[in-house]
Parts: sequence; C-alpha cells; structure tokens
Amino acid sequence: MVRYEPMTVDNLDAVAEMEQRVYPFPWSRGNFADSLAAGHGAWLAQEQGRMTAYAVTMQVLDEVHLLNLTVLPELQRRGRGGAMLAHLLELARNAAAKRMLLEVRPGNVPGQALYRRHGFVEIGRRRDYYPAPGGREDAIVMAREL
Ligand SMILES: CC(C)(COP(=O)(O)OP(=O)(O)OC[C@H]1O[C@@H](n2cnc3c(N)ncnc32)[C@H](O)[C@@H]1OP(=O)(O)O)[C@@H](O)C(=O)NCCC(=O)NCCS
Repeated sequence: MVRYEPMTVDNLDAVAEMEQRVYPFPWSRGNFADSLAAGHGAWLAQEQGRMTAYAVTMQVLDEVHLLNLTVLPELQRRGRGGAMLAHLLELARNAAAKRMLLEVRPGNVPGQALYRRHGFVEIGRRRDYYPAPGGREDAIVMAREL
C-alpha cells in the first residue's frame, strides 16, 4: 500500500542520500530545502514506513513543471514511477493546471519511455541544460495537456 505524503525538512537527509545514489549529478540537500522553502510541490511515496519514491513540482499559473521524479533503484520498473506520475497529474488537474512540462536527458531511455507512456510528447530542446561529464548536455522538453 503506497501513501503519498508531503516532503518536509525532516525527510531531507534521506531524500538527499537517495538522490546521491541515483544520479551522477544529484540535487544537493540544499536544492531540496530551497524547493520546500519556495513552496514547490514535494511528495514522498511511503510503503511500510519506507520511502520508495519522491517528486518535486513547481506550478506557475496554469503550468506544472516536474522538476524531479525518482524511484528507489532496487524498486524501479515495478510501477512506482508511473503511480507517482499519476498522483502528480491528478494534483495538477485539481490545482486547475492545463499542462505539465518536464525536462529529461536524451540518454534517459527509461524516463522518456515512462513519460511517453503517460501521454507526454517532445515539444523542444533546451541547449546545454544539464551538467554532463566533460561539459553540458541538452535537455528534451516534454509536455502533456491536462
Ligand atoms: C524513470 C523512473 C522514475 C521510472 O520509474 P519506474 O518505477 O522505474 O517506472 P515504472 O515501473 O512505473 O514504468 C512505467 C513505464 O515506463 C517505461 N519504463 C520504465 N523503466 C523503463 C526502462 N528501464 N526501460 C524501458 N522502459 C521503461 C515502461 O513503459 C514502463 O511500463 P512497463 O513496465 O509496463 O513496460 C525511474 O526509473 C527512476 O527513478 N530513474 C532514475 C531517476 C530518473 O531518471 N528520473 C527521471 C528524471 S527526468
């Protein structure tokens, strides 16, 4: 049974630790703290007292920007990313948003497959958006109408 709970400062050590495990260029604890302070949407999936996924969103007018979506590495490809995304899409609709937007690395095949499966389409690229080994990497921008 999954419960979605708002992320709080008490969760930041665990979130930052998981983030370090998942990404070569992770958000810092401070990045998450800044998101909470800015009032962004920040959610944890909790299962039997264990955090299994988290996500951060930012709403600007009628657009929700998905800034971070992460599933515990050993539990990936078992529906948790899709379930969190469905939760975020429902919240966005309830907040009267018209569109969800996100960036994804061109090399992130699982991420792109997840988003396409949930109705996102590529709408453009942002040049040199991500840090990458030896330089920068473009982002694919994807969007889904709500
Ligand atoms: C991307 C991520 C959030 C997906 O979450 P997940 O729980 O592993 O994905 P789900 O099990 O919900 O997968 C849903 C669908 O996405 C696609 N998908 C997910 N992982 C995939 C993979 N490794 N290869 C191909 N397609 C994949 C499939 O269409 C899948 O449906 P299916 O299993 O029925 O074929 C997760 O892999 C993750 O945390 N990755 C590291 C962090 C990251 O890259 N986040 C996104 C940054 S933009």
